[in-house]
Amino acid sequence: MSCCRQEVAREACYHSTVLSCSATGVYRMIAEVLVALVLGAVVYVLLLKQRQEVLQTEDGWWGLGEPHETPEDDSIRPFKVETSSEEIEDLHKRMDHTRPFPALEDSQFNYGFNSKYLQRVVSYWRHEFDWNKQVEKLNRYPHFKTKIEGIDVHYVHVRPRNLPEGTSGVPLLMVHGWPGSFYEFYGILPLLTEPENADDLAFEVICPSIPGYGFSEAPHKKGFDSVCAARVFHKLMKRLGFAQFYAHGGDWGWLITTNMAQLEPKTVKGLHVNFAPPAKPGFRMVMSVLLGRRFPKLFGFTDRDLNRLFPIVQKVMVESVKESGYMHIQATKPDTVGRGLNDSPVGLAAYILEKFSTWTDPEFRNMEDGGLERNFSLDDLLTNVMIYWTTGSIISSMRFYKENFGKGLNQKHAAIPVYVPTGFASFPNELMHTPELWVKQKYRKLTSYSPMARGGHFAAMEEPRLMAEDIQNFTRKLEKRKRK
Ligand SMILES: *[C@@H]1O[C@H](CO)[C@@H](O)[C@H](O)[C@H]1NC(C)=O
Ligand SMILES: *[C@@H]1O[C@H](CO)[C@@H](O)[C@H](O)[C@H]1NC(C)=O
Repeated sequence: MSCCRQEVAREACYHSTVLSCSATGVYRMIAEVLVALVLGAVVYVLLLKQRQEVLQTEDGWWGLGEPHETPEDDSIRPFKVETSSEEIEDLHKRMDHTRPFPALEDSQFNYGFNSKYLQRVVSYWRHEFDWNKQVEKLNRYPHFKTKIEGIDVHYVHVRPRNLPEGTSGVPLLMVHGWPGSFYEFYGILPLLTEPENADDLAFEVICPSIPGYGFSEAPHKKGFDSVCAARVFHKLMKRLGFAQFYAHGGDWGWLITTNMAQLEPKTVKGLHVNFAPPAKPGFRMVMSVLLGRRFPKLFGFTDRDLNRLFPIVQKVMVESVKESGYMHIQATKPDTVGRGLNDSPVGLAAYILEKFSTWTDPEFRNMEDGGLERNFSLDDLLTNVMIYWTTGSIISSMRFYKENFGKGLNQKHAAIPVYVPTGFASFPNELMHTPELWVKQKYRKLTSYSPMARGGHFAAMEEPRLMAEDIQNFTRKLEKRKRK
């Protein structure tokens, strides 16, 4: 019995050991799972935090001298473009004293703005162009100025007409670039604010001038770059009472609105751009450059992509070097060449309008008249030049290159992606073609990529209908998604 008892005891002992053993196993397993979960969550949060990294910035002050002690005057002042007979007389006198220089035979626009055609432009400007009439056109929309970070910021603010009682337009900020101005949007404004189709959205559009461009005051201190412009425009939109809005941009406007999305991803409801040169080549992009021609499907390359990109040395690299001399000058010594342009309306027109020729269609370099009047009217082109001339803003507009490139290409905003829903309109003659894969690398929520039928770098001005349609399509998509 004792043996038996011992037996029973041993058995019980055995059982309890097994039990406790398996219990520890389970506990250990649970513990392991818990640790894994916690670790996973930490990694997830860290990655997510990194993934959704928000661009940081600090307030600046760009006024003359020391910042004022008193709070900033935040009033919004109506503004009208004005001109005087003295201004026009001075302009005419300078044009009359221009010193023509013979163009090389058969050089067309390959040596820069063709001198012979320039004489024609100047003659039109001098004898037919009516600045008073253009000023009236500029004033058809309401302009305002308000002080932000010590400088006056100018903008055009267009509310939709004929909206039903109690409804408001969809707020949209549109930002121009160089050598353009808010005037680039004058053709698209009526299309966005007074839409023709019943199911189209009516936008309330704000077109600011980048500080240092046109009627916005130039910063008086060094360092005003795209992130500063983005911060200033966020302050502008807040002052106007917009908690959330859409943003559109091309050229510098692309970078400024992109930075706005990186600074305040919750404020920018959607970002629409027609220019997006890659800031940092990622792995997939490098592979697509190396292998894309042979394995286009692997990278989602279309025939259009192949035509625009390859051979890559010729079409991307050589072309960029041939066309970017201005950029190197402006990114290094803007004040030197700028001074000549600020004195000479003829020089200024040549410098600005050469870009409207070549950036609209590179083939226009082979035309005596640079193809300028094929896609634009001289009235519109010269109005843009006059905005630079009358405000004396060419030097400060060129400095924006120095401020952006001078800080190096490894800026924080270049490294972090954009998580705001983005629409990209890919115009066939854009300076740098960016296939969908490359755009996605930066814009992680690319909701539309539209290959456009025609148009170049100044697409909003050249093809206002196409651009308005793409903005409508993109915004409608997002607004619908939100309602669901
Ligand atoms: C721009 O010019 C090109 C070449 O002449 C032409 O094919 C295109 O239709 C023009 N676009 C507009 C909007 O006039
Ligand atoms: C806008 O969407 C309509 C309907 O899907 C399409 O037919 C049109 O081509 C789009 N327009 C642009 C410019 O992408």
